[in-house]
Amino acid sequence: MKKVKKVIIPAAGLGTRFLPATKAMPKEMLPIINKPTIQYIVEEAIASGIEDIIIVTGKGKRAIEDHFDNAFELESRLLEDGKLELLKEVQRSSKVEIHYIRQKEPKGLGHAVWCARKFIGDEPFGVMLGDDIVTGQIPCLKQLMDQYEETQNSVIGVQVIPDEFTNRYGIIEPDQQDGRLYRVNNFVEKPPLGTAPSNLAIMGRYVFTPKIFKYLEMQEKGAGGEIQLTDAIQKLNQSERVYAYNFEGTRYDVGERLGYILTTLEFALQNEDLRYPLMDAMAEWLSKAGQPTIG
Ligand code: UTP
Repeated sequence: MKKVKKVIIPAAGLGTRFLPATKAMPKEMLPIINKPTIQYIVEEAIASGIEDIIIVTGKGKRAIEDHFDNAFELESRLLEDGKLELLKEVQRSSKVEIHYIRQKEPKGLGHAVWCARKFIGDEPFGVMLGDDIVTGQIPCLKQLMDQYEETQNSVIGVQVIPDEFTNRYGIIEPDQQDGRLYRVNNFVEKPPLGTAPSNLAIMGRYVFTPKIFKYLEMQEKGAGGEIQLTDAIQKLNQSERVYAYNFEGTRYDVGERLGYILTTLEFALQNEDLRYPLMDAMAEWLSKAGQPTIG
């Protein structure tokens, strides 16, 4: 039985929702407080027991490679100054091999995953989206890897979302349910409102058998003119079973502006140094917001 040891992190999108910040800086490097988004994801992969990570990058994404490179000067300076906690933070991601591949054109998430096929070979593997952070007791990817070990089939991470957001996600049409695990009839990418077969949405964490590459290879452009991963999953589900797993944990969408701001605020409220000054400032903003504006 082959184990899941590798993950793909697609991070080659244009990040248009964050322009102009993302003109020269990758969206995945935008920090939540002091840590780039992609580092939260790399840390989840490490905590899940992953040995190799391949990050799919594109034009203007050099900062990601520089971020995960060794920073000898900085590290020796921190050591000299006795800033050991900071040194530990800087070295955190050195516990895993990180590799890079370029997606020459941002043709969609499905295409980004396909670009890493040679690195994966004939093994099961994970996919973690570069702009979804998940926190919780058991790392989200590990939960899916455990389900893969049980079922020996691809497992897609899902969570329940409000009905009014079902047109923004890939949605599953569940068949049988066993606890948090679902057999799935259909996977539909961004169904128009009112047509969604459920409110279980695909949430940026996947474990696949290598057979998905066969369907990505043949995949035509779908919603938004992009090669969609969900469309290839739907085809894979017709030749071998694909499960959905309603994972435990809180998922933060940091790929859109409001989600990014709310995540930053929530993480700041969980931080001992920032919590009280932030709460004081928020109380002041709220009291001012209720007052009539002058002039
Ligand atoms: P998104 O659709 O959220 O990212 O893709 P985007 O395209 O960069 O964002 P906007 O819509 O322009 O603001 C989800 C993930 O898939 C990656 C993105 O980098 C992001 O982490 N992706 C998307 C690719 O790697 N390649 C693509 O062609 C598209």
